[in-house]
Amino acid sequence: MIDRDPNLARRDFLKTGVAAAGLTLAPAAVFADDEERQEIKPVRVGVVGVGNRGTALLKTLHSFDALEVPAVCDIDPKAADRASKLIVKRGRKQPEVYTNGDEDFRRLMARDDLDAVIVATPWQWHAPMAVEAMKQGKYVGVEVPCAITLDECWDLVKTHEATGAPCMMLENWSFRRDNLAVLNMIRAGLFGEIVHCHCAYSHNCMHWYFDADGRPRWSGKHLLRRNADQYPTHSLGPVISWMDINCGDRFDYVVSMASRSLGIKDQLERKFGADHPPAKLPYKQGDIVTTMVKTVKGNTIVIAMDMQLPRPYDNRWLIQGMRGLYNEQRAAVYIEGVSPNREQWEPFAPYEKKYDHAWWRDSAEELLRQGHGGTDDLELREFIRAVRAKSQTPIDVYDSVSMSVIFPLSERSIAAGSAPVECPDFTSGRWQTTGPKYALDRG
Ligand SMILES: NC(=O)c1ccc[n+]([C@@H]2O[C@H](COP(=O)([O-])OP(=O)(O)OC[C@H]3O[C@@H](n4cnc5c(N)ncnc54)[C@H](O)[C@@H]3O)[C@@H](O)[C@H]2O)c1
Repeated sequence: MIDRDPNLARRDFLKTGVAAAGLTLAPAAVFADDEERQEIKPVRVGVVGVGNRGTALLKTLHSFDALEVPAVCDIDPKAADRASKLIVKRGRKQPEVYTNGDEDFRRLMARDDLDAVIVATPWQWHAPMAVEAMKQGKYVGVEVPCAITLDECWDLVKTHEATGAPCMMLENWSFRRDNLAVLNMIRAGLFGEIVHCHCAYSHNCMHWYFDADGRPRWSGKHLLRRNADQYPTHSLGPVISWMDINCGDRFDYVVSMASRSLGIKDQLERKFGADHPPAKLPYKQGDIVTTMVKTVKGNTIVIAMDMQLPRPYDNRWLIQGMRGLYNEQRAAVYIEGVSPNREQWEPFAPYEKKYDHAWWRDSAEELLRQGHGGTDDLELREFIRAVRAKSQTPIDVYDSVSMSVIFPLSERSIAAGSAPVECPDFTSGRWQTTGPKYALDRG
């Protein structure tokens, strides 16, 4: 059974997470010990956007105890109705639905009975909706990427700082068991000082960009307008904490390059014929986008985006330090002076077991039965735990925008012939004084 005790880890958050993350909590928000023993009040969550992803998140939310979804919003009444029926089928009270156009989410967010809002809409709504949720004093969990322009990144940061409301991008690969074990290994110093990382999102997403008739969905329309790393968040998720981004280091500048665009047209033509009108559209998006990030400390990160060519799924994480490295593709590590054979890989599996993260140790069996290898369950479990404890979310607004900002910055670099593009310091200097904050494991 997954540990769903909402009181667990609260003390840890109060002692370390909140302070480390620089979150200012009103004293009234801190639970007293005798309050902790009182009956658990349900956390009340509103869900905006109940298409494919929103429905999956809704199902996960309903597997948690002491949680209610009293409101859902979608511009498509059929989607909202489906969500409403799902909630009732799970034995919960029928939610109020908000289906009155693109801006109706504001009515949902204005409700005074919600603690948190989950946003799983098309990208252009993520930042405006997260901003509104924070202004209404709600925690917000927003799907990836949380912003698609530089201005939107700043809107999120400034609204968080003005309201104190936490904003977490729901980047689930940060919660993978292997990635968290690697984080523990880095923190234990096995690889020495880190200098370099490689990561990728390589996934043929034509089924997601285009509908069954081969017409661009909202996601496919971005391929017509922009040439960028449009989906940098899953590749970068674990890298942010591996490389102490926003807590000891930060992104300095970005250089990006895109290949020509052949995959979309070729895949559409082969499936729907050469005369298929969407196959003739002028797609701006290059097939492979490679971005390099230099950090202020002098470390380097290579990020690859590869989402419109036929291929098996791949993330190609690699992290390298003075004393050794981890290679996800090989499921292997090499650690100087520890690995038995000089300059030869050894299997990662025993290290994954030894450095298993506290979030996984007691609940792996059940987590592995859930969506996306348990990561959806874990990210929402930890998000809801923070909502209940009124503490900082595991991924904060600074890490959320740092992952997402690669979208607009890579676009600028590509448009300027791969010129270096400066990355702003969203923390206003606090990266220098903030200690590690994500997924601290005292086990
Ligand atoms: N973290 C992950 O692993 C993961 C996986 C898939 C998708 N996603 C993200 O989830 C989000 C949704 O993707 P999807 O595949 O579910 O798309 P989708 O098109 O299936 O669902 C989006 C829903 O939002 C609704 N919507 C659109 N505009 C709205 C508005 N103004 N107000 C309320 N509802 C609105 C649509 O009607 C639709 O039901 C995207 O941001 C995507 O990047 C994340």
